[in-house]
Amino acid sequence: MTKNQTFGRREFLKTAAAAAGVASLPNFAFAQGAKIRVGLMLPYTGIYAQLGVAITNGFKLAVTENGGKLGGREIEYFTVDDESDPSKATDNANKLVTRDKVDVLIGTVHSGVEMGIVKIARESGVLHINPNAGAAAATGALCAPNIFRTSFTNWQPAYPMGKVLADRGIKRVVTLTHKYAAGDEAIEGFKEGFTKAGGTVVKELSLPFPSEEFQSLLTEIASIKPDAVFVFFAGSAGIKLIKDWKAAGLKGKIGLYGSGFLTDGILEAVGDAAEGIETTLHYGDGIETPKNKTFRLNYAKTFKLQPDVYAVQGYDAGQLLVAGLKAVKGDMNKKKELITAMETAKIDSPRGVWTMSKAHNPIQDIYLRKVVGKENKVMGVAHKALADPARGCKMG
Ligand code: BEZ
Repeated sequence: MTKNQTFGRREFLKTAAAAAGVASLPNFAFAQGAKIRVGLMLPYTGIYAQLGVAITNGFKLAVTENGGKLGGREIEYFTVDDESDPSKATDNANKLVTRDKVDVLIGTVHSGVEMGIVKIARESGVLHINPNAGAAAATGALCAPNIFRTSFTNWQPAYPMGKVLADRGIKRVVTLTHKYAAGDEAIEGFKEGFTKAGGTVVKELSLPFPSEEFQSLLTEIASIKPDAVFVFFAGSAGIKLIKDWKAAGLKGKIGLYGSGFLTDGILEAVGDAAEGIETTLHYGDGIETPKNKTFRLNYAKTFKLQPDVYAVQGYDAGQLLVAGLKAVKGDMNKKKELITAMETAKIDSPRGVWTMSKAHNPIQDIYLRKVVGKENKVMGVAHKALADPARGCKMG
């Protein structure tokens, strides 16, 4: 890592202080009693639209459960549809920070878009909570005191599936993904776990994001005849792949596995084509805890929708912010105390209790799940308290 990539606590505080004077950033300029300005930069169109909505709903549910306030202050929302388009990411994030003067920037889903947010968060010092995008760099080489994640790294849910499959005697696997950071990192994570346990990835297939044209790839898979296929897809791409897989006659012949995004939030839409698919993820619908039961009930009652992993991550972004602002009684000027409170928070999540790693990414259990009817049913814990390696992070 080069020196100027290292973004320590001192640099953060210096940047933030400079921002207060030079760029008149909002988080330092606003008087207590004014509304907290919350920026939501998420996809509301495109193949990840449903994910953006679930995150928004989850975040707002956590705030509602806290009396509709953060640290005793009312909230004003500023919302941007980032369209899962990395080319617009820095402009969109910059608008929220400089034009709308948000105190905290919540976003996003797509790893490429997240890189634009991270750039603006590092430059401005604005508090940033990432409720989904798994890009390793956000809590790796580009980690920073003001950057937090309440979801996962792309490596995290994929890595344990390697051992699960190898332990079943599966030896030859083909991988398939959208070709961008999230897919590449998920496949690398799976490969690391699988090869360590004795398996071989015989072919790595991909298609450009956000294409859903799977036909020729499925024909190629049928001709390779691997023991299993491991994939990274999410949102509507998961629905299309699972339906095409069945239509191509592969269901029941070759095992289809993936990071749990493949089957999360789509079971109503996909029908019985998903039955039996096994995935690994940090959440499962039927987790038997009072917290999960209450969350699912409240979410369904409020939004007339079933929650999924994205709703949980948005909810936990809300819970994390509630914890931070409670510690400073809504005073965003107490940046150091705010960050310490967020770093040490124990989040009582529907997924199970989790804590922050030094790099600001959840340390959490990864579950093995199986689609049974309309549920991602938890079959067991594939890896207990898994922390991302946070390669390149010099913080903490
Ligand atoms: C990502 O781009 O990081 C991502 C998108 C959807 C689900 C999971 C990860």
